[in-house]
Parts: sequence; structure tokens; C-alpha cells
Amino acid sequence: MAKKLVYVLNGPNLNLLGLREPEIYGTQTLDDIAAMLEDAGQELGIAIDMRQSNHEGHLVDWLHEAQAEGAHAVLLNAGAYTHTSIALLDAIRSITTPVIEVHLSDPTTREDFRHVSFVGMAAAQTFQGHGAQSYTLALESAAKL
Ligand code: DQA
Repeated sequence: MAKKLVYVLNGPNLNLLGLREPEIYGTQTLDDIAAMLEDAGQELGIAIDMRQSNHEGHLVDWLHEAQAEGAHAVLLNAGAYTHTSIALLDAIRSITTPVIEVHLSDPTTREDFRHVSFVGMAAAQTFQGHGAQSYTLALESAAKL
């Protein structure tokens, strides 16, 4: 049987994971997380397409692409755009591909400005506060959708 395809989209500053505020985000790099998801994907029969951009429009384009490519689901850690981007909210609402919101930290326990999630307003589910494990939990959940 053909593998399901899951897009894993990462937003601004996540290219610096491992170096960036490790007390909040941990010491694993985005490449470490990609390797972890590849392994989990093998078990679950899922092919991973993992990407990162610091530009909001790239994330919008990739959400559209996920639908066009018939992806089974999208895991989206939109970084700070989570809390600012109506364009991402609209993009998620514009596609039928389920989008699962992912965060390493738990934004609801941090500064007030992180308590609003435009991504969460449209996402099918949210996994946050489990460090890098948030991604694997989200992938396991995506496999069941
Ligand atoms: C984050 C949480 C956001 O508030 C923050 O802007 C990030 C990372 C997380 O994964 O915990 O860049 O999405």
C-alpha cells in the first residue's frame, strides 16, 4: 500500500532550534526532529515532507501545496506567526487537508501575547508543551485521522 504523505511545516526561527533559548525549546535541532519523525513515519507507514521558512507567505504556499499534492495531513509549527497571522488562519480554512498545530513549548503558560493562536482557531488538533515529542505525538495522531 502507498505510504500516506504528511507535510511538517516549520515557521520563523525554528531553523535555530538547539541554539535558540534551549531552556524553553530544548537542545534538539530541527534536523534531529526530522530524523525522529522519519523513524516514527517508518513505523506508521507515513512519508514525511519536512520544511522550514522564516517567511509567512512560504507557509501559506506550502499549505496550498499540501492539499494539491493530496497530503494526508499537515503538522504546522508556525512559530510566532501562530499569534499574528490571519493569512495562516485563512489558508488552513481554505484547504480540506487536516492541519495539526504543534508547539515545543506551551504558549498558554507564557507571555499574554502568545495566548492567542490564529492557527489553533482552524487546526483540527493541537499538541504543545511536550518539547520535540509534541511532533511525534502529532504524527501518531495524524496517522489515525
Ligand atoms: C513555538 C511557540 C511560539 O510562541 C514561538 O513564537 C515560537 C516557537 C513553540 O514551538 O513552542 O517560535 O511555536
